[in-house]
Amino acid sequence: MTTISDIRTYLKEVTHPAKADKSIVELGMVDKVSVSTNAEGAPKVSVTLAFSRHRDPLAEYLIGSTRAALIRNLPKGADVEVLTVVKDEPKPKKKPGLDLGLEEVANVKHIIGVASGKGGVGKSTVAVNLAVALARLGYKVGLADADVYGPSVPKMTATEDAVPESFQIPAAEPGEEPRDVIMPIEKYGVKWMSIGYFARPDQALIWRGPMACNALKQMILQVRWGELDFLLIDMPPGTGDIHISLVHDIPMSGAVIVSTPQDVALADVEKGVNMFRNENVNKPIFGLVENMSWFTPEELPDNRYYIFGKDGGRKMAEKYGLDLLGQIPIVQSIREDGDAGTPAALGTGPQALAFIALAEKLAGKLN
Ligand SMILES: Nc1ncnc2c1ncn2[C@@H]1O[C@H](COP(=O)(O)OP(=O)(O)O)[C@@H](O)[C@H]1O
Ligand SMILES: [Mg+2]
Repeated sequence: MTTISDIRTYLKEVTHPAKADKSIVELGMVDKVSVSTNAEGAPKVSVTLAFSRHRDPLAEYLIGSTRAALIRNLPKGADVEVLTVVKDEPKPKKKPGLDLGLEEVANVKHIIGVASGKGGVGKSTVAVNLAVALARLGYKVGLADADVYGPSVPKMTATEDAVPESFQIPAAEPGEEPRDVIMPIEKYGVKWMSIGYFARPDQALIWRGPMACNALKQMILQVRWGELDFLLIDMPPGTGDIHISLVHDIPMSGAVIVSTPQDVALADVEKGVNMFRNENVNKPIFGLVENMSWFTPEELPDNRYYIFGKDGGRKMAEKYGLDLLGQIPIVQSIREDGDAGTPAALGTGPQALAFIALAEKLAGKLN
């Protein structure tokens, strides 16, 4: 798919003969770029060039070379439109700092929050294994570990020593700030990012409200995810302001809620559900994942012991009009595999199949 940044790259080929052959991008003449898809599935591109009030004698030449550069670089059948606008002043300076754009998630089809009302229900275990299972089904998947209080992706994927590369993209136009971009870590067919990659494991992470919130947004919006079918976000446990702000600022398609069958956990689910259905958030909940549904000894895979009660998740799903997307048993190896950094979903046992069934159901619902 052609992106806005591709178009900007093509536009760098258009130089202004009267201005030391600087490109129209460098000269700040590219006012707007939009990309969509036309009826034939080819890119439909519109570029608006800004000219100063004293009409540039080379305007027609530049419009022509802009069209030519786009047609030269775009696939056959693309629609190209070049518009102009007259402006006196350069654009006002963009606010520095955390005025993060959405460029890096522009090619992600679905951003899905994996949430729970409280910690310890296996949210990270479900998120990591769901990511691996979706990748095994052939989807392009990323996972952002947004649990600033207890990042678990580095350990669960045995990538504790990984150091993500980062680089700076120079400002596209004068007056804009350069952007920092971080590369995700790729393993098991999934692109991973975690705040844990930036803090030593022996360092306790102490984040306060706004700081945690900004770190989280960076963790999602400054990462070069590229083209993805699914970007899962392992959300911090709870339902506070951080969550609402995160769901508000990240273009999430919706959420999946993880719970255990216990009554107390179910009361927390209610808070999680209400959070997404709150009028300021108002995102769909794709369904509930019941984790630790029953205990199964590895050597007796057909035996099910309902140690946290039976069907709590199903009842809760019914009460809130949610789909029960999956039931994941407690199996000792799920914890062991998590600790070893080789997610259970990579395997072939019943626990792997439970995660694959969950992935199929979620993907089926969204595609
Ligand atoms: N289905 C399961 N079977 C066995 N152990 C599990 C299962 N789900 C989670 N665990 C274990 O429970 C602990 C808490 O899980 P975790 O995913 O870190 O929870 P959360 O992210 O909700 O705090 C971890 O040690 C994990 O390995
Ligand atoms: Mg967790």
